[in-house]
Amino acid sequence: MTRSPLEKLLERELARFEGSHPRSRALAADARRSLLGGVPMHWMVRWPGGFPVFATEAAGAHFLDVDGNEYVDFCLGDTGAMAGHSPAPTARAVADQAARGITLMLPSENGLRVADELARRFGLPLWQFALTATDANRFAVRLARAVTGRPKVLVFNWCYHGTVDETFAALADGRVVARAGNLGPPVPLDETTRVVEWNDLEALERELAHGDVACVLAEPALTNVGIVLPEAGFHAALRETTRRHGTLLVIDETHTLCTGPGGYTAAHGLEPDVLTIGKAIGGGIASAAYGFTEELARRVQAVIPQDESDVGGVGGTLAANALSLAAMRATLREVLTDAAFAQMLGLGERFERGVQAAIDAHALPWHVTRLGCRVEYLFRPERPRTGSEAAAGADPLLDRLIHLYALNRGILLTPFHNMALISPATTADDVDRHTSVFAEATAEIAAASWVV
Ligand SMILES: Cc1ncc(COP(=O)(O)O)c(C=O)c1O
Repeated sequence: MTRSPLEKLLERELARFEGSHPRSRALAADARRSLLGGVPMHWMVRWPGGFPVFATEAAGAHFLDVDGNEYVDFCLGDTGAMAGHSPAPTARAVADQAARGITLMLPSENGLRVADELARRFGLPLWQFALTATDANRFAVRLARAVTGRPKVLVFNWCYHGTVDETFAALADGRVVARAGNLGPPVPLDETTRVVEWNDLEALERELAHGDVACVLAEPALTNVGIVLPEAGFHAALRETTRRHGTLLVIDETHTLCTGPGGYTAAHGLEPDVLTIGKAIGGGIASAAYGFTEELARRVQAVIPQDESDVGGVGGTLAANALSLAAMRATLREVLTDAAFAQMLGLGERFERGVQAAIDAHALPWHVTRLGCRVEYLFRPERPRTGSEAAAGADPLLDRLIHLYALNRGILLTPFHNMALISPATTADDVDRHTSVFAEATAEIAAASWVV
């Protein structure tokens, strides 16, 4: 097996990208004068063309770049725009609210209505708001430590929950270490965190038996190293084990909202003590929420001293601001509706079928996994059981080639892995456009005979 034909394909695609994005290229060069690394946020250097595409406008499931290229967006701001770009009800509510006060440090009726809706969807009765899923997770972990009096959090290997210090931990030969790329961890990770592989119930039991874990913080399925689904019985065992050890269960639904209107929690009857969610619920306006059971809410309230409730390390000046609440209310009530989800799930299936057909047509040793309206393909034949197995199925060269190939033909995938997300505005034509580009890519890749 030689990889050079693949590298030649990549060179061809890089040249095509440069040729069709002169304005983006010029802006990227100019941006180096005033933006660190030439980008407004450092991970944007990871786009596959050598410089990022500069967008001009986006609507629904489409956007335009400064060179006049038009794209179908399956990245959707890595879930931030899962409601579609600028959905009309959200845009209207935001414009209306922006003209009537953006932040006040006072409650508005919208907060109450959003909490009611979140309670209806996820089954947890009491809610608080934040501006990012990172913060919702950070606050959940802090409160879990406060009520249990325990110092540690347990996460699953290769998880991602935002920039929460405790979660940037990894397993190396059974030891907890800082995850590769973790910048300036405040303390060694084994002081704050226990880590086990996803689906490894034996390890979960062993680690919780230490009696020092305040909470398990988990997505219902890993979604940030490809999709790694829970095995049958995993969630029931996770719940039973955490309860038995007096450890709280925090379920992060930020990405798994793709399962349905009440996320994986409602679809599969999970019973978390705390549920965190961000990104999509405000239609792209900074918004996040975390909800508690009645019992936990009582325990939380008991540890928050009334007179020092502003310095407890939980909250933020702009959290629950009027604009964010208006955006959440409109997005939940009018955009990410039950009817919208029914359509999104159907298109997710269509996307999956298209990818599977192309994999089959060329007998590629790859597979495709779907969680509701989120679809992901991985370069290994079997579904991974753990984050480590999924990570081992990554192939940086293939990743880059496929992303660039798609980008050159008007398709944007999520940059860090091969993920596609469907919004209420995505159409069957959009999905079929991806299917045809993916089929073209797999035919070329198979012909380049990199597969032995
Ligand atoms: C599951 C999950 N939780 C939390 C976050 C953090 O979201 P944010 O970066 O908006 O704070 C992410 C981000 O990708 C995520 O995937």
